[in-house]
Amino acid sequence: MSSETSTGTAVTTPAGTPPAHDALAHEALDLARRLLDGVDRRRAHVEVATATAATIAHTVPPADRDLLLAAVALHDVGYAPQLRRSGFHPLDGADHLAALGWPTRLVGLVAHHSGARFTARALGLEELLDAHPDEGGPVADALVYCDMTTTPDGRQVSLAERLQDAHARHRDDPAPQRRARLDREPFLRAAVARVQARLGTARAVVLPHPTQHR
Ligand SMILES: [Fe+2]
Repeated sequence: MSSETSTGTAVTTPAGTPPAHDALAHEALDLARRLLDGVDRRRAHVEVATATAATIAHTVPPADRDLLLAAVALHDVGYAPQLRRSGFHPLDGADHLAALGWPTRLVGLVAHHSGARFTARALGLEELLDAHPDEGGPVADALVYCDMTTTPDGRQVSLAERLQDAHARHRDDPAPQRRARLDREPFLRAAVARVQARLGTARAVVLPHPTQHR
């Protein structure tokens, strides 16, 4: 896989050498911070969402916990102006990460995060989004939870507050996109409810936020 240095230069690990397992989240957060530098609201959102991921990581299998933190850290990099292609941030972010060689599962989680398919359909971008895998399951649910309980400027809120805020921000969007947002809500509510159920049964293991490793 590869990532970018602070100067934007691609760094590639030798072919066939997977990254150290616990290194993925660190690398992901570093890249997200660089790409979202100057996009302050989204950077704050990503920091808080990643911290939330560390507290609910025990709702996914142990082997997927680093992947979860990495996916949450990178899920909104498509908001970086320099990555703008389609204008749809899940797709632009995923395409960029795929081009850099990030793991396919991580790229798919970014592409399909938080019900991106609903809006992609309204925008005529569903086929392009489906170039990336849509795995569903506990990691995708946990990503929804982290994203949908954090406002765009990084405040922790309930899902209901987050949806209300989204309605207010997008009230001037074209009707098909507003409709898609409404259609997406049951999907988001179901994912958050599944995470809450897992939180109720899983033994709590709070992972350090990637910044706390250093
Ligand atoms: Fe987000």
